[in-house]
Amino acid sequence: MRLTDHDQDILSGSEGEAARLAMQILCDMGEIFAADEMMPVSQVHIDMTLYMVDAGVEFVERLADLGGRFAVPTQLNPSAVDLRRCRELRVPAELEEKSRRLERAYLKMGATPTWTCAPYQQGMIPGFGEQIAWGESNAIAFANSVIGARTNRYADLVDVCAGIIGRVPRFGLHLSENRRAEILVTLEGFTPEMFANSAIYPLLGYVFGEIAAGRIGALEGIPKAVTMDDLKAFSASAASSGAVGLFHLLGITPEAPSLEVCFPGGGPTPLVLTPRMVADAEERLSDGTVERPDLVALGCPHFSATEFIALTELLQGRPVHASISCWVFTSRAVYAEVEEHGVLELAHSAGVKVFTDGCPLQYPVQSWDFRAAMSNSAKFANYCYSQTGLRVVYGSLRECVDTAVNGRVCREAGLWRKN
Ligand code: F3S
Repeated sequence: MRLTDHDQDILSGSEGEAARLAMQILCDMGEIFAADEMMPVSQVHIDMTLYMVDAGVEFVERLADLGGRFAVPTQLNPSAVDLRRCRELRVPAELEEKSRRLERAYLKMGATPTWTCAPYQQGMIPGFGEQIAWGESNAIAFANSVIGARTNRYADLVDVCAGIIGRVPRFGLHLSENRRAEILVTLEGFTPEMFANSAIYPLLGYVFGEIAAGRIGALEGIPKAVTMDDLKAFSASAASSGAVGLFHLLGITPEAPSLEVCFPGGGPTPLVLTPRMVADAEERLSDGTVERPDLVALGCPHFSATEFIALTELLQGRPVHASISCWVFTSRAVYAEVEEHGVLELAHSAGVKVFTDGCPLQYPVQSWDFRAAMSNSAKFANYCYSQTGLRVVYGSLRECVDTAVNGRVCREAGLWRKN
C-alpha cells in the first residue's frame, strides 16, 4: 500500500503512540484487503460501545491513555445500558462500572455521545457520496444504500482506529466499481395492502438478506411510498440475516434510479421473492408456543420520533397490562424531541418505559425474570434467543401494542400469513 509522507510519519510515531498503533492496525487491514492507499473519511460511527469483554474496554482505555484523540467527528453506537437510568434498568454494579469506563475513554478522546444505532435519523447525517467509516451493521446498510454515503462494514475497534487517524485504506465499498448490483431480486405476488402494513419491511429485508448473503443485490418492486422507518427496518434485518452492507431498491435508492442504470449490460435472471417466503421467514422468527410474553421490546434499531407518534396513536390512551413490561429504546436526541412535544408523556402515562443509550438485546437478563418477548423488529427476533435466552414472537407495531395492552399475544390473520 502506498503511504503519504504524513502516513509514514504517523506510523513512525510522530503523532504519539495511540496514533501509531491505530495507523499500524489500519495499514495491516489495508494490506489484507489489497488496498492501494489510504483515503480520508469525514466522520466515524463506533460500534464497539457496549461492554462485552474486558479486552474491548482495555483496548479503548489504552488508546485514550496513550493520548489518542479523534481526528474527525466521531459518534457512538449504544452502550450496553441506559447510562442515565441504570437503577431503573436494574444494571448490576460491575456492568455499570465497565460501561462507564468505556464512556470515559471515548469522551476523553473527543467522541460525541450520541449512543444510538440510528445515527442517520439525527445529528451527523452524511451526504450522498460522502466517504465515511461506520460500524453497526444496520447503520452501514442504511448509509450505503439509502443515503448513498460510502463505508465498508467496519469491524469493532477498527472503527476506533479510523476515528483517531481520520483515514482508512481505500478498498471495498469506498470505490464505485465495487458498489454495483450483482444479483436482481424481484417481488412477485405482493398487494398494496401488504405494503401498507409496515410489518412487511423487516420481513422483506430478512428474506432479501438471506438471498443476497454476501452479494450486492438490487430489489425490484418496493413501492415509492416506503418510509424512512421502513427502510431502517429493512436495512437492519437484511444486515442481520446476510452480510449486507449495500443494497439497491430500484427507483428508490440513489444509486439505483432504474434497472438499466443498475445493470447496463442487461439485468441477470431475477431471483423471485414471494409472500410465501415472507410468511415462512415470519414463522422462523416467531415461537408459536408463546402466548403471554413478559416483555414487548421496541426500538431495534432505535425508535424515531415518528415511531413514537405511531405508538401513542395505537395505544389510544390504553394502559399497558400489569403482566407485561413495554420497553422502548431510543437516542437521547429523539427522547428530547418527543419530550418537548408531549409525546413522551403520553407513552409514560400508559406505562411504557423509555430508555436511551442502550439496546434491548443487552438488558441485564439476570435482573429481570422475563421468559418471552415480542417485538416488531426482525433483527431483534433473529438474535433474541441466542443473546438473551428469551423465546420471541415477531409482530407489527399494532400487534405489539395490542399485546402489551391485553397481556397476551394478539396477531392478525391474512395478508401474507397463511391463516
Ligand atoms: Fe440497535 Fe441493539 Fe438493535 S444496537 S440495531 S437496538 S440490536
